[in-house]
Amino acid sequence: MLNPFDIIIFGGGGDLALRKLLPAMYRAYQEGNLPEGSRILPTVREETQRAEYIETAHKALKEFLAKDEFNAKDWKAFATFLVPVVSNVTAPDDNWDVLKGILDEHDSTKSRVFYLSLPPAVYGTCCEILSVKNLITPTSRVVVEKPIGYCGESAEAINGKIAEYFSEEQIFRIDHYLGKETVQNLMALRFSNSLFENMWDAKSIDNIQISISETVGLETRAGFYDKAGALRDMVQNHLLQLLCLVAMESPHKLNANSIRNEKLKVLEALRPLIGSDVDKNIIRGQYVPGDLNGKIVPGYLEELNEGSSKTETFVGIRAHIDNWRWAGVPFYLRTGKRMAKRCAEIVVQYKKVSHNVYEDSVGEIEPNRLVIRLQPEETIQLTLMSKRLDNLEMQLEPVTMNIELSQAYSNGFHSDAYKRLMLDAAANNPSLFIHRDEVRQAWKWIDPIIDRWQEKGKPALYRAGSWGPEDADELLAENNHVWFNTGDK
Ligand code: BG6
Repeated sequence: MLNPFDIIIFGGGGDLALRKLLPAMYRAYQEGNLPEGSRILPTVREETQRAEYIETAHKALKEFLAKDEFNAKDWKAFATFLVPVVSNVTAPDDNWDVLKGILDEHDSTKSRVFYLSLPPAVYGTCCEILSVKNLITPTSRVVVEKPIGYCGESAEAINGKIAEYFSEEQIFRIDHYLGKETVQNLMALRFSNSLFENMWDAKSIDNIQISISETVGLETRAGFYDKAGALRDMVQNHLLQLLCLVAMESPHKLNANSIRNEKLKVLEALRPLIGSDVDKNIIRGQYVPGDLNGKIVPGYLEELNEGSSKTETFVGIRAHIDNWRWAGVPFYLRTGKRMAKRCAEIVVQYKKVSHNVYEDSVGEIEPNRLVIRLQPEETIQLTLMSKRLDNLEMQLEPVTMNIELSQAYSNGFHSDAYKRLMLDAAANNPSLFIHRDEVRQAWKWIDPIIDRWQEKGKPALYRAGSWGPEDADELLAENNHVWFNTGDK
C-alpha cells in the first residue's frame, strides 16, 4: 500500500482538474488507494474561489463521474482529503507562505507531488517560486502536462527551466495515453506471449496502423487549439508514444530507464520527413460542416469564428522505422477531430500466407489482423481464417476472436489513466512518464514537418462525420493498403 502523500494541484479550478484529476482521486479513494493522511490541495486564484471550492468539487464530481460511481457517503469521506488553497503563480505573495505552512504541518519526508495543471509558459515561474519559497523537499516531485513547448527549442527552454529546480528523477512528464489500461496491456501482450513476439517484425507484418479518431470538435479550447493543431496536440505525444510501445525492443527489465531507453531508440530510428518528403508522406486536413451521427455540425472555421485558418484538425502519416526489425514496414499514424467515430486503436496487419492452396477452390485468403482497441471499449481482437461449418463446400471466412477486457475483469475496477498516473507519481514510479530525451527526440522529428507546412500548402478539407480527407485514403492506396476503420469487418 502506498504511503500517505500530499498532491498540490496548481490550476485546481481549471477544466483538467475538475474534469479529470478530481474524479481520478475520488476513484482512488473508492478503491482504497488513497491512503489515510493524504491530502489533495487544489490551488485557486482568489479567496472567494477557495471558500466555494468544496461545492465546486462536489458539482464537478457529480457531473464528471459515472452515475454509479458518485454517492453521498463516499463524497463526504473524500471531501475530508480536500484542502483548497490560494496561490497565484504570477505573484509570489503571502499566500505561498500559507501553502508552505499547511505542507510543513506534516512530516518533511512525506511525498509532495506538485501537479502543474497550468499553461506550460508558467511552468518555469511556478517551479522558481516553489524553490524560492522553500517548498521543494527531497521527496518532492513535479508533474507536468503536455504539450511541453511549441517546437524543439521552446520545449528545451521549458525543460531547462524546470531542471533548474528539480532533478530529472523528480520530473514526471505526463502523457495520459500511457496510463490507459490497454496501452499497458500492449506491453503485456507483446512481452509475455511468445505467440506474438515471434511474429512481430517485417517478416510477418505487412503494415501497422495507429489511429485516434475523435468526434468532438474544438470544445472550449479554440485559443489553444488554433495555435497548436493536431500535429502538436496529438502526434508529437500520444501517437508517437504509442508507436514507441508497438515498435520497441523488449526492455531488459520493467523499470523506467530500460523502457525509456528502448522507446528513445525507436524515435531515433524514425525516418526523418523533411521538405518534399513531408508532402509525399503526410496529409493534413481540416473539417468542414457535415453530418455526425445524424446531426449537422459546424466546420472548424465556423466553430473558431474566423474567416481563415491553416490549422490542421486531421493528420495522416506514413512513417518508417529504419532498423533491422521494421525495415520496409509502413507505420500509418492518423488522428482527427470530428471524425465518424470515437476510437483509438492499433491495427497490426499481417502478411498474406506465402502460398495459397485454396486459390482454385476458395480464392483470396484474407491475412490475419490483430486489433488492440484502447477506446471506447478495451478489446483485443484477432481475425483468423476458418472453414464454415454449415456448408459441404470448402468455404473459408474470416472469424474474429474478441477479448473484452472490461468483461474479463469485471470487479468494479474503473480504468482511469489519470488515476493510474497520479498514483504512480505519488509512489515515485516513473515508468509510464516521459524522459526529457524522448521529448527532445520527438520534437526533432516534428519540427521539420511544421517548417514545411509553414512555407507550403494548406490542409485538405474533409466533412465532419467522415474518416478524414480522401487524400489520406490515397496515401495508403499508393502501397495497396487501406485504413482499417472501426466498425469495418
Ligand atoms: C488531449 C488532447 O491530450 O487528448 C485533446 O489535448 C484530445 O485534444 C484528448 O481530445 C484525447 O484524449 P482521450 O483520452 O479522450 O482520447
